[in-house]
Amino acid sequence: MLEIRLTRTTTPKEKPQDESALGFGKIFTDHMFLADYTEGEGWHDARIVPYGPLSLSPAASVLHYGTEIFEGMKAYRTASGEIRLFRSMENIRRMNHSAERLCLPEVDEAFMLRALDMLVDLERDWVPHSVGTSLYIRPFMFGADPHLGVHAVHAATLCIICSPVGAYYAEGINPVKIAIEHEDVRAVRGGTGYAKCGGNYAASLRAGKRAEEKGYTQVLWLDGVERKYIEEVGSMNVMFKIAGKIVTPALTGSVLPGITRKSCIELLRSWGYEVEERLLSVGELIGAAEDRTLEEAWGTGTAAVVSPIGTLAYEGQEHTVGDGGIGAVTQKLYDTLTGIQWGTLPDTFGWCHTVEKPCD
Ligand code: COI
Repeated sequence: MLEIRLTRTTTPKEKPQDESALGFGKIFTDHMFLADYTEGEGWHDARIVPYGPLSLSPAASVLHYGTEIFEGMKAYRTASGEIRLFRSMENIRRMNHSAERLCLPEVDEAFMLRALDMLVDLERDWVPHSVGTSLYIRPFMFGADPHLGVHAVHAATLCIICSPVGAYYAEGINPVKIAIEHEDVRAVRGGTGYAKCGGNYAASLRAGKRAEEKGYTQVLWLDGVERKYIEEVGSMNVMFKIAGKIVTPALTGSVLPGITRKSCIELLRSWGYEVEERLLSVGELIGAAEDRTLEEAWGTGTAAVVSPIGTLAYEGQEHTVGDGGIGAVTQKLYDTLTGIQWGTLPDTFGWCHTVEKPCD
């Protein structure tokens, strides 16, 4: 396996004192992982180096054609001080699916896991201690070819950075208000919707900004063809409890196959809930809100964890979900998932992996 060279920082930064003020993705740790890919040579020059600016050609493919993919994962500190990663192999596999879609090079799964373990081990003192916090890990890859021709990349860079985080939303675990978007679309089948690539998020920003200006936290996307079926929220997948059943949009190709989504479905089914992965029209959803059979709604994601949705706005009208508070299923999912991640509940599914000390 490719060797990973380690250069430790000589100027470590001070760690945040007030973990209640971490927010999301604003503070970065002392080191980052880098590796380069060149066609013919493959991946090479894998290294962990002090966190700092990247140097790339102004002609690099990513700057012109958006050849970029990323992942989001978290490391958690348990009460006994162990550092654990959650379903990291799922993230690695999804990253390779995204790479295939964007014509970026795939990475060896075992090598990527080792890179993650090594970096997180080195940064273990950066994993925050307080309830609700974690070390967010952001692997990303971009096309680095210095050529303006539009073609699949021949050179790429893989990078992993880490950031100690609290809740993604300012609301914390309190319900968010979401606007259903009917003008812009995020993705279409056959496009890149299922891949985790920067372009999907760039396409979402205008609607997100408009929604924020009207007092909503994020938008709920409809499908890009009929503008009829519910897809996902800006930074999370979405689930509903309608008349006792759980309904979540099917993975049609334009929806991100979320790992928290998958974990919630597995938990819900293990508790005996019927979970329908299917097309859900906005008409059916608003109808359920109106006849009060829409009991709960929540989003799922690595950053967002399990976030209750208290209000849905559609065509200028607001609809309260359930009683507007956190529903019982939403709360149970949040408690169970975070309990498994922080080690306060048994990991009966075998989802967590303890970061050993490969750097010693
Ligand atoms: C995540 O949940 O990790 C995400 O990537 C969502 C977002 C912060 C882009």
